Amino acid sequence: MKIVRTEDGSLTLFSEKFNEPYHSLTAGAFKEAVEKFCKPCKVEEKAKKGKLNLFDVCFGLGYNTVAFLETAFSSNPKVKVSVVGFEFDLGVIEKSLELSWGNYEKWKKIIRVALKNKRCENIFLTINYFSPQIKLKIYIGEGREVIKRIHRKYKQFADAIFHDPFSPRVNPELWTFEFFQKLRSIIKRDGILATYSAASPVRKALWMAGFGVKEGVAVGRKSRSTVASPLFKTEEKLLEKFLASTKSTPYRDPNLQDSPELIMSRRRGCVWLQEKALPIAPIY
Ligand SMILES: C[S@@+](CC[C@H](N)C(=O)[O-])C[C@H]1O[C@@H](n2cnc3c(N)ncnc32)[C@H](O)[C@@H]1O
Repeated sequence: MKIVRTEDGSLTLFSEKFNEPYHSLTAGAFKEAVEKFCKPCKVEEKAKKGKLNLFDVCFGLGYNTVAFLETAFSSNPKVKVSVVGFEFDLGVIEKSLELSWGNYEKWKKIIRVALKNKRCENIFLTINYFSPQIKLKIYIGEGREVIKRIHRKYKQFADAIFHDPFSPRVNPELWTFEFFQKLRSIIKRDGILATYSAASPVRKALWMAGFGVKEGVAVGRKSRSTVASPLFKTEEKLLEKFLASTKSTPYRDPNLQDSPELIMSRRRGCVWLQEKALPIAPIY
């Protein structure tokens, strides 16, 4: 894994496997964590209520979670937080501790303790940190396998979901309608999901899964982003796009187990069917 410097001076890694950086190089790693995840999910405001739960999709270097902790505790030093997430590469969490985290350095001790406190839960390895104010549990495993096995346990758990896989082009398995359905079951009714993608297949999949969908802020990486919540009303202009264009055809993975290649080719097939074979009837 190559270390790269991002626009705000913070360091991130580059994944050879996915051929993408772990964070936006143009926005800056920690800046993106704050601007695209913490702010849209209203972490500062919600922390004032005293209790806050985060579900972190793709823990990676842990920057999003760390920015969440910093934001929540700066807002309310008495807040109690619970963070649950998954990541299939334990190596990247360990590697992250070798990088400088700048102003966020003080949070490294939590990840260090978590890495020492390994458990086996529901067939998965987990890393854990427990204190009176902070509970952190990261499942080490393939995201879909994890969510299939834990979604009932975390029904309506999340005040915030940070959804941060690599891009849909290379990591489509975590951007499907079926995966978002599982996230829908673990979010509270007034919870907010933030993701950096503004792609219409992603937005339509969120909408089909029961989220209201809105335009998010523009910071680095892709120009815009997306926020979604069971409570939001989907913006009219987005709805029109979903219904009018085959470009919004979502990624599908009926049993949450198909390969990225199959998910991509299934979508291409669906678009072809809609455009060439059944131009009138919309197919989801
Ligand atoms: C863009 S990085 C996430 C960065 C992270 N949110 C942070 O703040 O440092 C995407 C992460 O998703 C993980 N990942 C990709 N596909 C996965 C899958 N199917 N299951 C579990 N983790 C996955 C990668 O190992 C990588 O760490």
